[in-house]
Amino acid sequence: MDEASKKTLDHALNKLSEWKSSFGAWEQDPTLTVSEEKTAEVFGRLAQRLACNFPFHHPVYAGQMLKPPHPLTWAAYAMAMSINPNNHALDGGPPSSEMEKEAVAELAQFFGYGNEFLGHLTASGTIANLEALWVARESHPNKKIAFSENSHYTHHRMCGVLRVEGVKIPVLENSAFDLDAINPKEIGTVVVTLGTTGLGEVEPLNEILPWAKKHGIRIHIDAAYGGFFRVLKDSGLIDGTNWHLMEQADSIVVDPHKHGLQPYGCGCVLFKDPAVGKFYKHDSPYTYFTSEDLHLGEISLECSRAGAAAVALWATLQMFPLKEKEGFGPVLKKCLQAARNMYDLIGSSQKLKAFKKPVLDILGYFPSEVKTTSEISAKSKEVFDAGMREQSFYLSLYKIPADTFHRLHPEYKTDTEQVTILRSVFMKPEQEGFVSKLLERIERYC
Ligand SMILES: Cc1ncc(COP(=O)(O)O)c(C=O)c1O
Repeated sequence: MDEASKKTLDHALNKLSEWKSSFGAWEQDPTLTVSEEKTAEVFGRLAQRLACNFPFHHPVYAGQMLKPPHPLTWAAYAMAMSINPNNHALDGGPPSSEMEKEAVAELAQFFGYGNEFLGHLTASGTIANLEALWVARESHPNKKIAFSENSHYTHHRMCGVLRVEGVKIPVLENSAFDLDAINPKEIGTVVVTLGTTGLGEVEPLNEILPWAKKHGIRIHIDAAYGGFFRVLKDSGLIDGTNWHLMEQADSIVVDPHKHGLQPYGCGCVLFKDPAVGKFYKHDSPYTYFTSEDLHLGEISLECSRAGAAAVALWATLQMFPLKEKEGFGPVLKKCLQAARNMYDLIGSSQKLKAFKKPVLDILGYFPSEVKTTSEISAKSKEVFDAGMREQSFYLSLYKIPADTFHRLHPEYKTDTEQVTILRSVFMKPEQEGFVSKLLERIERYC
């Protein structure tokens, strides 16, 4: 963090201390005191333990969907967390609840829902999706929930939790859903993922919407990973078709703790029709007393939630507007460009091949100087391990059904049911320029 930002933060912290002291002098109880030696010893060990992490902050980390929050975001989080408001009820944190309502309203506007919607932050994308599927079940009690074979595994698992039958929709060669494989009469809600977890693919909402409307089927969009890419819908850098249609969905999930610069503990669920609030109705004899206004716990399955998460998101959206040319747009453009640069570089590599062109910022690729799918899997694992062992680069692995792989790369003999390839999620704008170094390092082990 630069000196000017540090000064601003000092000033903000002093203001907060002034407010804390304004209730009169008080001292921490001696039972809470920890000796200087103990503190030094524990924090010394803590620093050592934390240094055993993978370097999520650095461009050499091009593995899973992981990156630290923006430094100013965690400063806002830490400030609010020193008070530790609870956004369950306005009794637990009036300002942080207000900030949650404002930040969520901004996200709803961003996705095209306008002013009429229902939504709130959640602990994660999993919980946000659970809530969306729960509303799906309550809206169509006797119907199934459908999702594609590329959707996040949480949808199948949450159908089990909710005791709703989940239906897996096969995906065709051209990425279309094989809608002929399912019976629309049995389906109440279909999940469409904009930014799949595996390779960041954007499922064809434009084809599913008319089909769903014709059959009276609700649509839930899982944009936990991809949602923020909507800022680029008119940029010409991505195909904006499906991103433009998001407002027609019945519910949307987005994870600010993925591409929204937030620390973990920040998902979001939005419903187009505020009337779904009726499903949440409950009576609490001990919670909602300080205000007649909406308490977020009245429209959320979770009770206690970190007010600091809402404060951090609110502060971030003030500094990084959801715009193409300012704030999030320029950041996401660079992530997209990092994946495209890596794809182009791999195009001229003798040792690696791209699995397919990236749609967003996730790229699959594999060592190419072998003959069979089993050799691709073994070599990919070898490269993956070598990077970590040498602390030179950090990738992830991804398993693909062999027939899917064979369709795109028939020159390799299929001798396994699955193929394991290398995968990189380029979530950091700094990776735009770093990928040439990354490729050089990876090729050394191919
Ligand atoms: C598309 C999608 N949905 C849901 C999830 C689950 O979100 P979380 O890990 O925040 O629970 C993920 C996580 O990778 C995801 O990519």
